[in-house]
Formats: sequence, C-alpha cells, structure tokens
Amino acid sequence: MFRDLFKYYKSKAAPPDLSSVLYIEDESENIIKKQPLPCSNELEQQLQSLGLVPSLNWKLFEHAEHAGLFILKNPFTDDGAYSWIKREAERGLELFDKLRWVTLGYHHDWDRKVYSESNKSEFPKELACLISCLGQVIGGWDVKAEAGIVNIYHMNSTLSGHTDSSEPNSTAPLFSISFGQRAIFLIGGRKLEDKATPIMLENGDVIVMSGDSRLCYHGVPRIVPTPWPKGDEYIQFLSNARINLNIRQVLNIDQNSL
Ligand code: OGA
Ligand code: MN
Repeated sequence: MFRDLFKYYKSKAAPPDLSSVLYIEDESENIIKKQPLPCSNELEQQLQSLGLVPSLNWKLFEHAEHAGLFILKNPFTDDGAYSWIKREAERGLELFDKLRWVTLGYHHDWDRKVYSESNKSEFPKELACLISCLGQVIGGWDVKAEAGIVNIYHMNSTLSGHTDSSEPNSTAPLFSISFGQRAIFLIGGRKLEDKATPIMLENGDVIVMSGDSRLCYHGVPRIVPTPWPKGDEYIQFLSNARINLNIRQVLNIDQNSL
C-alpha cells in the first residue's frame, strides 16, 4: 500500500532496505521492453540538437503493473545532460539552495490547486521542444508543454504522495525528467490502497505517466546518495541535490486558453 511504503522508505530513524527498489533494466521484474517509434531524419536531427542519443539506442520500458507508465533510461549524451542541468541551474543556484520549486508556463496555485490565465509566463521554447520530441518517439503523442515545475531536492527532501489532477487536460501524458542524485519514486494506483512500486530514478531518466497511470498516486520518499563526478558549480550543486523537471499539458486540444 502506498502510505505504508512511503513511510518505510522515508524513515530517517530506521534506514530502509533498498534491495526491493526496482532498478529498470532489460530483465527487471514486470518491466516490458518497448521499441521507440520510427523517427524521420528531421526528428532524429532534432533529438541530436536537444542533447539526446539516437532513438535506436534508447532504453525504453513500460511497467506491466502500471499500464502507461513509461521509463526511458537516461537518453541524454553527457554533454546534452550537462546543458540541460546548466540551463535549469542558471535560473539561480543561490535561489536553488533555498527554494523547493520554481514554476514555468502556467504557474500552479498550490493552495487552490488551479492554473489561471492571469498567472502565467512564457514556457521555455527549448524545453517545450524536448517534450514534444520525446512524446512523438515514446508514444506517438502530440504534447504541448504548457506548465512545468522545476523541483529542487536536497538530500533530506521528500515529496508527499499526490495525484496531478489540476490540469483540465488529464489525458495528455505527464513528463518527468530527473538530474543529479538518485531518488526513490513511489508509484501506486488511483486509490491509496492500490499496490505501489518503488522505482530508482537516476540521473537523466525520463518518466512518462500516460493512459491509466496519468492520474495515479506517486511521490518521492527519499533521495539516495549517488557517486558523483567533480566539476564546475552546476555539477557540484548536483553532488548533493536532485533537479526534477515535471512538465504537463494544461489545455484540452479544443481550448486556446483557460
Ligand atoms: C511532481 C512530481 C516527481 C519527482 O512534481 O508533481 O511528482 O520525481 N515530481 O520529483
Ligand atoms: Mn506529481
């Protein structure tokens, strides 16, 4: 069950046994290997310019017990990942030391759980392009990135269990890209009583919550210390932090505004 597992993995007093946390690989239990969809040359070139390896080399999976939950193991080149990390961290490392999150595009009102037309900024073009390309190759979707949350985790941060249901469009898939330290991502079902699975998310990993899993409970009970290279201030920042880009389409296809 979601709550019990979340508590178990979150515990500071009794550090959890991580041996049941799922590392996504070819032979992992309940993990189905998926073929990325065929790409035009133009799309393949776009992937390259966005810092991704050729789609033929993508390691794409779906979870058998969480239909619609896709996991793309780090598809970024080292330079590509670095550019994305730098682009996000350039929003302000001092800021990131203090903040837990920054919103992009339609800004989510956490208290009222709504988006509004009067509270939005332009969504970063390159990030929207990345999401559009990932969507085309992973599921053949035409996704418009309209709202994003840059989550900043320090080593003791957690994100409680929740569903993301503020978007009027709850059928468009949600994209989640992780950089830096590893995290345990706990995903359950539509109800808190449903079975939950702890998945280890690593640097560069992309998760897509589509179809049945779009509205499922999920959260991050623990950040897991990870061997990390030395480098400039941006790399250094991630030696004890994690950045998660959580991107959603807000509007339905027949909507131009809220
Ligand atoms: C979110 C979220 C997951 C993560 O921002 O809604 O679920 O891996 N983030 O940080
Ligand atoms: Mn979420």
